[in-house]
Amino acid sequence: MTSPSSAPGDRARAVIAGIGSCLPPLVVTNTQVIARGNLDTTDAWITGRTGIHRRRLAGPAISTGDLATAAARAAIDSAGSAVPRPDLLLLATTTPDRPCPATAPEVAHRLGLGTVPAFDLAAVCSGFLYGLVTASALLRSGTCRAPLVVAAEKYSTIVDPFDRDTAPLFGDAAAAVALRLGNADEPGAVLETDWGSDGGGSDLITVAAGGSRLPATGIDTGIGIGIGTPGHGDRCFRMRGRQVYAHAVRRMTSSSEAVLATTGWRPEEVRAFIGHQANQRILDAVADRLGVPPRHRLGNIRDVGNTAGASVPLALADAAARHACAPGARTLLTAFGGGLTWASATLLWPDAPVRTTAPEPRPPLHDHQEVSPP
Ligand code: UT7
Repeated sequence: MTSPSSAPGDRARAVIAGIGSCLPPLVVTNTQVIARGNLDTTDAWITGRTGIHRRRLAGPAISTGDLATAAARAAIDSAGSAVPRPDLLLLATTTPDRPCPATAPEVAHRLGLGTVPAFDLAAVCSGFLYGLVTASALLRSGTCRAPLVVAAEKYSTIVDPFDRDTAPLFGDAAAAVALRLGNADEPGAVLETDWGSDGGGSDLITVAAGGSRLPATGIDTGIGIGIGTPGHGDRCFRMRGRQVYAHAVRRMTSSSEAVLATTGWRPEEVRAFIGHQANQRILDAVADRLGVPPRHRLGNIRDVGNTAGASVPLALADAAARHACAPGARTLLTAFGGGLTWASATLLWPDAPVRTTAPEPRPPLHDHQEVSPP
């Protein structure tokens, strides 16, 4: 579903004014993933079928919130003092610190943002772009002035290290953008967006346990808890790779076509194409179908693997840090993920100095200060 075109003369757009990213320091090679899970696969299979050579993993001391806080702080630093203090924080994640409450308010608190609205958004690998669509709309409606869109994932907590089909694919990371209101001809301007979902495919990518259908504690029959207690497999991420592959190619292609049409760009005019970093073959299939030449395809799947919701902004941050494109270049972002969900956006390549940081350990919790009644 493509977002409605703006009214004639309405040139106001969300502009990416700051970009931050955070990668945990631990680099894990394919050989190490294979050895850890005793997987019946090879480095050659993984690199040849996915393009992934290594990934970063967070380890037990670093949470999604720690990655998110660091990336968000980096995006705020990148935006500098010209951009108003963030007044909304949106965190796209499928691996929150806890099922309840959302992770976003604590991230906002750690950033010193006071009592700004903050919420999590669960759109799996389309999370960042769902967040960008949402934040852009809130900004253009006047609901906020400077939203932060953060995407952070710690898939190492849900991926089964013994599952050959998924263990080699995922990595942990976070990335964030700081937005402000600007004009459609500025570097960083988010021009048009497209998003959609198909819940008919909700069983293709799942973590079965931990929700209301299959609680982490098992099913309460009224005579005691413990019947149907989830097993190891139920608590892990599962994906029907071959089917997901076909949906991913189809949806990212059609969504990209839709947003290019709304923007009025031909695919050959795109100077930067960044798709969800799930599989290099999927990315090439989408770009080939669209007609975006190889020299304009940007990504970092080789070094970070699939970082789910964080993958698109992480690839953007990586390419921007390398000055891979000139500010203002025509850019197409597209993503696909569990749900099923997908989303795309056209924008002008940003002109923000990318900041990259290490994860931020969570400070000790203090008792919450009661607010005195007025
Ligand atoms: O981030 C959310 C979106 N995710 C995606 O878009 C990922 C989509 N899927 C994929 O990227 C690919 O399907 C995979 C990388 C997961 C698998 O690659 P593939 O080339 O599509 O393989 P396939 O699914 O067609 O499976 C071919 C064979 C199967 O064996 P059989 O059934 O033909 O006997 C798999 O069991 O390859 C097998 N296989 C593996 N073999 C060696 C699957 N994973 C592995 C592995 N090593 N790691």
